[in-house]
Amino acid sequence: MAEVKFENVTKAFGETVAVRDLDLEIHDKEFLVLVGPSGCGKTTTLRMLAGLEDTTKGRIYIDGKDVTFLPPKDRDIAMVFQSYALYPHMNVYDNMAFGLRNRLISTGMKQLRAGVTLVMWLIVIAIITVLSQVAGMIFGKPFYSMMMFGGIGAFFLALSLYPDFRLTLTWKGMIFLSRYSNLARDYIRIEKTIEERVKWAAEILEIPELLKRKPRQLSGGQRQRVALGRAMVRQPKVFLMDEPLSNLDAKLRNSMRAELASLQSKLEITTVYVTHDQVEAMTLGHRIAVMNKGVIEQIGTPDEVYSRPETLFVAGFIGTPTMNFIRGKIESDQNGLKLVSPGISLLLSESELGKRYQQLKQYTGKDVVLGIRPENVKIETEVEKAASLPGIVTFVEPIGSVTNLFFEIGRGEKITVSVEGYRKIGRGDSSTLFFPYDMMHFFNPTSGKRIC
Ligand SMILES: Nc1ncnc2c1ncn2[C@@H]1O[C@H](COP(=O)(O)OP(=O)(O)OP(=O)(O)O)[C@@H](O)[C@H]1O
Ligand SMILES: [Mg+2]
Repeated sequence: MAEVKFENVTKAFGETVAVRDLDLEIHDKEFLVLVGPSGCGKTTTLRMLAGLEDTTKGRIYIDGKDVTFLPPKDRDIAMVFQSYALYPHMNVYDNMAFGLRNRLISTGMKQLRAGVTLVMWLIVIAIITVLSQVAGMIFGKPFYSMMMFGGIGAFFLALSLYPDFRLTLTWKGMIFLSRYSNLARDYIRIEKTIEERVKWAAEILEIPELLKRKPRQLSGGQRQRVALGRAMVRQPKVFLMDEPLSNLDAKLRNSMRAELASLQSKLEITTVYVTHDQVEAMTLGHRIAVMNKGVIEQIGTPDEVYSRPETLFVAGFIGTPTMNFIRGKIESDQNGLKLVSPGISLLLSESELGKRYQQLKQYTGKDVVLGIRPENVKIETEVEKAASLPGIVTFVEPIGSVTNLFFEIGRGEKITVSVEGYRKIGRGDSSTLFFPYDMMHFFNPTSGKRIC
């Protein structure tokens, strides 16, 4: 169980207000994506939740507990950064184990481990000395010196070349000691738990064969998995991810995206994921929060945000190609309402728009912005329940499964139309554009808010 709540949270860096009066509730097991353009305050929001940044105002709760002033280590969260932040000198296993070790292994255990290491070394040196003495007695004095220097040299060479050797020595010492010391016994138990968890995470991420490698011996995608693994091993209440896929190439990003989504639903850990990529947001999030200039403009399921954007910003930010906007005045004559702008007159049908027609009526004589998505504009011959306008093709962009057609309507107003497959239409051709009434969005240009 882990719910997260931001209550009226503000963060200012001097004059810059990075996050303003943020109210946000993230449900248990939810995958919430925070999306918005660069500099809108996404990372700052995440860092405040992680405890890496103080809040200027407001409260943050995890599971109903006020964590606003708790240090990061007491918040039970794990963060995956864009840069992965792996330790280059540690192998994958230790990188993944690091956070958990830090949390579970006490200072006393560390001191005990260091002591055991020293004792084990002394024992090895003592064995070398004894063997050298014996060799000296049997074969003469030169053999003593040879065995002694050679043995100690080889021992230290092995220590520096094979870290596993050093670890094995310490481990053996700790196991021996665990018969007599509770502290050593706890240490062994914790290391076994860590091993289980690292292996569990490595299995899920399909990287068990990489555990002994150093980060520099890994590809970008593999490093990314290790960074994820490190967070998984902690089994935290909340995962925080700051653009974890942005360093990957497009193909890998797509496949990792799908893996992340299935991983999150398997682990059922509340996740807050930050990205500026709206496709990533739409495909990953149970809900997405669209942020602009430090404020969340809309929060909802991908479908809600796509089909009913509450502000002009959200309408323009979500969806590719971007939604078309036509700014015009609502005028009324004997045929009813029209949206009028230079060279354009679009009939607004009362019977088709229904209740929305009444809302638009209140804007008679005022400016509104009509928004319509490129995939919703039709150019087929005759579409029912749609307003129509003539347009001229200025550019054709075939991109495989769809073709983007760029039209000019009225006096130079640009409209993009996305059609499936390939169209035999070229620059300079004219066509009628149909705008289905149920796909129209109307906004107030002054407040930027949705009218209907
Ligand atoms: N330590 C800081 N000191 C001063 N200003 C900061 C600091 N950190 C962030 N800011 C400012 O706060 C605003 C929000 O920054 P933030 O890093 O949260 O943006 P973001 O949404 O994560 O952007 P991006 O997508 O580029 O990562 C920006 O204007 C940024 O310049
Ligand atoms: Mg950021």
